[in-house]
Amino acid sequence: MSTTDDIKKGLAGVIADSTAISKVNPETNSLLYRGYPVQDLAANLSFEAVAMLLWTGELPTDDELGAFTEYERSHRQLDPAVKNAIDLLPETCHPMDTARTAVSVMGARHPQAGDSDPDTELAKAQELFARFPAIVAYDQRRRRGLEPVEPRGDLTYAENFLWMVFGDEEHLAPPVVEAFEVSMVLYAEHSFNASTFTARVITSTLADLHSAVTGAIGALKGPLHGGANEAVMYTFDEIGVDRNESREQAAARAKAWMEDALAAKKKVMGFGHRVYKNGDSRVPTMKGALDAMVEHYERPELLGLYDGLEAAMDEAKSIKPNLDYPAGPTYHLMGFDTQMFTPLFIASRITGWTAHIMEQRANNSLIRPLAAYNGADQRAL
Ligand code: ACO
Repeated sequence: MSTTDDIKKGLAGVIADSTAISKVNPETNSLLYRGYPVQDLAANLSFEAVAMLLWTGELPTDDELGAFTEYERSHRQLDPAVKNAIDLLPETCHPMDTARTAVSVMGARHPQAGDSDPDTELAKAQELFARFPAIVAYDQRRRRGLEPVEPRGDLTYAENFLWMVFGDEEHLAPPVVEAFEVSMVLYAEHSFNASTFTARVITSTLADLHSAVTGAIGALKGPLHGGANEAVMYTFDEIGVDRNESREQAAARAKAWMEDALAAKKKVMGFGHRVYKNGDSRVPTMKGALDAMVEHYERPELLGLYDGLEAAMDEAKSIKPNLDYPAGPTYHLMGFDTQMFTPLFIASRITGWTAHIMEQRANNSLIRPLAAYNGADQRAL
């Protein structure tokens, strides 16, 4: 019989299964995708190549990457039925609700919805990868009262994503595209995090891939997981972003804000991690991307806020930033609405989720833990 002594609250420390997709090593603060350090992948490979690595286990050959690139570029259009479904949603709903609904509609309309042989599953993953940016772009533009922008076949995944959202050449400047692509690579995969585990639980019941991704989006929405990247920007807004301030002045204000927040026992989003206790392996690379954006857009005061919060949290609790901390202000500088940050996380994590869905399906066992009952003893009616 299960007792309360057996409980691993939040499944902390529980090894639920094995995976060959990524290795998180908190002792060395390292993250490997299929054996390759994530920072090396971010520095040297396109997001398209990293996606293929996650799905297949190996780096693609030039021919394989060429064929996938051609496929991706020719599958960027959104199904008009998905657009119609989005149009039915109020603009007051969160963009994560739009994303969750759109993926669900894509699944409902998929001609091979119920097929789950490995080839069909990979094809579904690749189609989601190719079409998802159009969902984010369509939603971002409709919220600004703008017409959709058609995808461009001469652009890479990252360039075209920015093109469909902003529809201008400024966002195709190399530093912007590089920072965006780095974020896509870093967000792609992170072992049994809450949303990936959700996708695996759903897959373990033999449900279809789109159901698993739809559920994963729900899990990602919360501020303890993906929603933290937007929450970081709300913290910056609460402290107040003042473009006329120096980096040092902004840092001093941020430090004071953090001291008050911690004294009031607030949880500050963008800090802490269930697995990494000495720093998130992805932060140095993402911070490099943020630095490049701050320089590109000449906004040093944002780094001041970043420095001040980080220093005060470290002094008070030795808690380090996680990936969402540098990612939030990076997306802000690029011009995304704050609410769109977590859907960007989806665009990236679709790769990791679908790789895990395929891995779960290949060696399935229903995921069904036990509970220690702590309700009323048996009693008569
Ligand atoms: N701000 C203030 N205190 C914190 C924070 C934080 N962000 N994170 C942890 N702590 C404190 C807790 O209050 C607790 O202190 P106590 O022992 O005095 O009560 C201690 O550190 C342990 O925290 P837990 O929440 O128990 O640690 P856990 O491993 O369960 O949580 C989590 C990890 C959920 C990520 C947590 O650090 C948190 O809530 N962070 C903010 C949300 C966030 O940034 N999420 C993004 C995760 S990364 C990603 O999705 C890419």
